[in-house]
Amino acid sequence: MQTIETSNKKSKLKSLDTLFIKTYGCAMNVYDSSRMSDLMQQAYGLRIVDEPRDADVILMNTCSIRDGAENKVYSELGRYKLLKDKRPDLIIGVGGCVGQQEGERIQKRAPYVDIVFGPQTYHRLPEMVKEIRRNRVRLTEIDMPEIEKFDHLPKPKVEGLTGYVTIMEGCDKFCTFCIVPYTRGAEISRPPEDILEECRQLIDAGAKDISLLGQNVNAYRAEDADGNAVDFAGLLHLVGSLEGMQRLRFSTSHPMEMTTELCEAFAEIPALMPYLHLPVQSGSNAILKAMHRGHTREDYIRIIEELRLHCPDIALSSDFIVGFPGETEEDFEQTMDLVRHVHFDSAFSFKYSPRPGTPAAKAEDDVPEAIKSERLLRLQALLKEQSRLGMARQVGKTTEVLVEGKGKREGDLTGRTPDFRIVHFQGNPRLIGHILPVNITQAYDLSLRGELVIED
Ligand code: 5AD
Ligand code: SF4
Repeated sequence: MQTIETSNKKSKLKSLDTLFIKTYGCAMNVYDSSRMSDLMQQAYGLRIVDEPRDADVILMNTCSIRDGAENKVYSELGRYKLLKDKRPDLIIGVGGCVGQQEGERIQKRAPYVDIVFGPQTYHRLPEMVKEIRRNRVRLTEIDMPEIEKFDHLPKPKVEGLTGYVTIMEGCDKFCTFCIVPYTRGAEISRPPEDILEECRQLIDAGAKDISLLGQNVNAYRAEDADGNAVDFAGLLHLVGSLEGMQRLRFSTSHPMEMTTELCEAFAEIPALMPYLHLPVQSGSNAILKAMHRGHTREDYIRIIEELRLHCPDIALSSDFIVGFPGETEEDFEQTMDLVRHVHFDSAFSFKYSPRPGTPAAKAEDDVPEAIKSERLLRLQALLKEQSRLGMARQVGKTTEVLVEGKGKREGDLTGRTPDFRIVHFQGNPRLIGHILPVNITQAYDLSLRGELVIED
C-alpha cells in the first residue's frame, strides 16, 4: 500500500452518512459496486444517494476495456473536485480497472483523490477510509492478493428478482488486444461450497433469476471440500439442482472452453436458460490468430452447431472488434460471412482501439479510422437485421415470462423470457415475481408485446 500525507490536517471530522457510487463497464463491475455498497453500509451505516453532491463518500468503479475510459474518469473527477473544494472532508475513491492500471498516476494528476484501489482490493475499503480519516493521508492499494477479497465481503443483498454471484475472477487468455488479464489478474475460482451458499442465500431472499459471473466462467476449475475436481459444467449441475433455483444464466464464456458437457448442460439442467453470450471477435482465421484467441472460425461454428443440437432455440449473443491491426477487406468479409452463417440474436461490436501495455498496441494501428467506422456500420446493420428477425420470430409463440415489475404504459407489466427478451403486457401488479405464460403478439427492435395466457 502506498501512503501520501495531505495538508488537510486540522479541520474537525464530520460523520460519514452518505455514499454515491458511479459504475462503468461490465456486469462484474455492477456486482463489485453492489458489494462495495454492502461493505460500506455494514462498516459505516452509509446510505446510498443518487447524486454526488449529496454524498460524504464518492466512489468510482471504473472500466478500462475500451478507448477513452481514462479520460472519462478524469473529466468526471473534475466535477467531483468542485464539490471537494466546497467540502474538504468529502472522500473520493477511484476503483476498478482504471484504478488498477493507473495506480498512483491518478493522484499525481488529481491530487484531491483520497483512495485508489483495484478490482481485487475493494474489500479493504472500510479500513482505507478509516486510515485516511485518522491520519489524513491519501492511499493507493492495488496489489493483487489471491482472492482474499471474497473472505472479507458481507453476505450479498438481493434487490429485485435477479441475483449475481461471482464464481471466478481474472483471465489467463491474454487476447492480444485486451487489458483484462493485466487489470483483473490471473484466473482464480471460488470454492463450489461458497458459490452454492451464496446462491442459496439469494434464493432465500427471493431471487428468481441468478447469473454466475466471471471474465471467463468456463475456465472455472476448483475442488470441493472432499478434494473432487469441479469444472464449470459440474458447477452448473450443482447450482442448477439447488432447491428453488428457477432461472440460471452465466456470463461471459470463451469459445476455447465450450466443452461438450457444457453444451449438453443446456439440455440437462432445466433451470439453465437458453441464452449464451459467446464472444467471437472476428470471423477471419488470420485475425483470430493475431488476436491470440486460440480458436478458428470453424471451431466457433462447430460449437454453435453442437449447442443448437442440444438446445435448438438458444439465443446467441457475441462481441466483435473491427479494424484490428492488419484487418483487410477480405478479413472483414469473413466476419460478415460468419455472422450470416451463425445468426446472432444480439451483439456488441466495437472499433479496435489500442490499450496501452497490451501486445496488439505494439503493432501499428493501421486500419484508417474512416474504414473502421464504415466496417462497424456495415456489421451493425447486419446484426440489427438479424436481431429484428429473431424478435419477429417470437410472434405467435407462448413463452414463460418472469414478471419483473410495472411497465411504463398504464396497466403494463414488464418481464423477461427465458432467452432474455423484454416483454410488456397488461396485467395485475400482484403478478410481479411470478413466472407466467405470455402469448407474444408484437415484436419491436428491443422488446416484445404480449398477452397473458391466463389472467390470474
Ligand atoms: N478494442 C476494442 N474492443 C475491445 N474489447 C476488448 N478490448 C478491446 C479493444 N482494445 C471488446 C471485446 C470484448 C469486449 C468486452 O470488449 O469485444 O469481448
Ligand atoms: Fe480479454 Fe480475451 Fe480474457 Fe476475454 S478472454 S477477458 S477478451 S483476454
